[in-house]
Amino acid sequence: MASSSLPSPIAKRLEGKVAFITGGASGIGAATARLFVQHGAKVTIADIQDNLATSLVQEIGAENTTFVHCNVAIESDVQNAVDATVAKFGKLDIMFSNAGVYGKPVFSILDVDSDLIKNVFDVNVVGGFFCAKHAARVMIPEKKGVILFTASAATVVYGSEVPHTYAASKCAVLGLTKNLGVELGKYGIRVNCVSPYLISTPLLLNQIGIDKQTADELFAQGGNLKGALLDEEGVAKSLLYLASDDSKYVSGLNLVIDGGYSTTNVAIPEAYNKLLSSVTHQTINKEV
Ligand SMILES: NC(=O)c1ccc[n+]([C@@H]2O[C@H](COP(=O)([O-])OP(=O)(O)OC[C@H]3O[C@@H](n4cnc5c(N)ncnc54)[C@H](O)[C@@H]3O)[C@@H](O)[C@H]2O)c1
Repeated sequence: MASSSLPSPIAKRLEGKVAFITGGASGIGAATARLFVQHGAKVTIADIQDNLATSLVQEIGAENTTFVHCNVAIESDVQNAVDATVAKFGKLDIMFSNAGVYGKPVFSILDVDSDLIKNVFDVNVVGGFFCAKHAARVMIPEKKGVILFTASAATVVYGSEVPHTYAASKCAVLGLTKNLGVELGKYGIRVNCVSPYLISTPLLLNQIGIDKQTADELFAQGGNLKGALLDEEGVAKSLLYLASDDSKYVSGLNLVIDGGYSTTNVAIPEAYNKLLSSVTHQTINKEV
């Protein structure tokens, strides 16, 4: 076979880079760990699910990944996990602060209490601060690095189907992304976040209590872009762009991955359809 007909090997976009991924044992974090290693990175998986993380390290290969137990809400855990990464792989190029919780599905402000707020904010917001701080600690002297966060489409579209605690925590992550990008720009450190639409990962399935297939159908039906479904791998590909030199002048970006969902407004079409159906109903009733 002529060599020109062979498929060309994938260009490795993170060759020689070291990444740290919180919430890396499952969902978006696990998909990103797999993709980053395929692209030549060494990856630390920082999570509280030891069994899941250990089997992921076995699957990806222990020469390119390592697991450190790390509760992002505890600063010393994050500090130790970052230090362990630098000790093992020699440096830190990419911090991906992704660990998150949805919290209890409480939708009325009247039912919110301090435990509910604390549980969500401790992981989603306080955890993000600790990741940013300890990444910056090792990146500033190097005058380079990339810090990424997982925010949510809840930063750009609001609704009664998202708990206030979750929406508010993700808006805080967005604020941190932008403000941090301003501070760290002078050190050559880029800071960005991704904001995905709904994906049927354990984070959502465990809280809303439906199976993956039903959730996928629901999310596809509710989505704006038809014939496509967002999954963890799709988000990981956007993160690969933001982590690599392909985005070398991109900082302070909220990369919304929602198929245009946040640009739609269903209120008027819904009201119009209601009006039409009530007019039709009245006409039919008159005729009967
Ligand atoms: N699934 C979605 O629809 C969706 C949409 C937008 C944003 N997100 C965000 O994506 C991120 C990843 O979630 P996912 O959907 O992949 O869910 P997931 O449940 O598959 O993964 C979340 C991971 O975070 C870990 N984690 C939770 N608390 C932690 C803590 N205190 N310390 C360390 N790790 C902890 C979990 O063990 C788990 O491995 C979250 O920040 C979530 O808010 C998810």
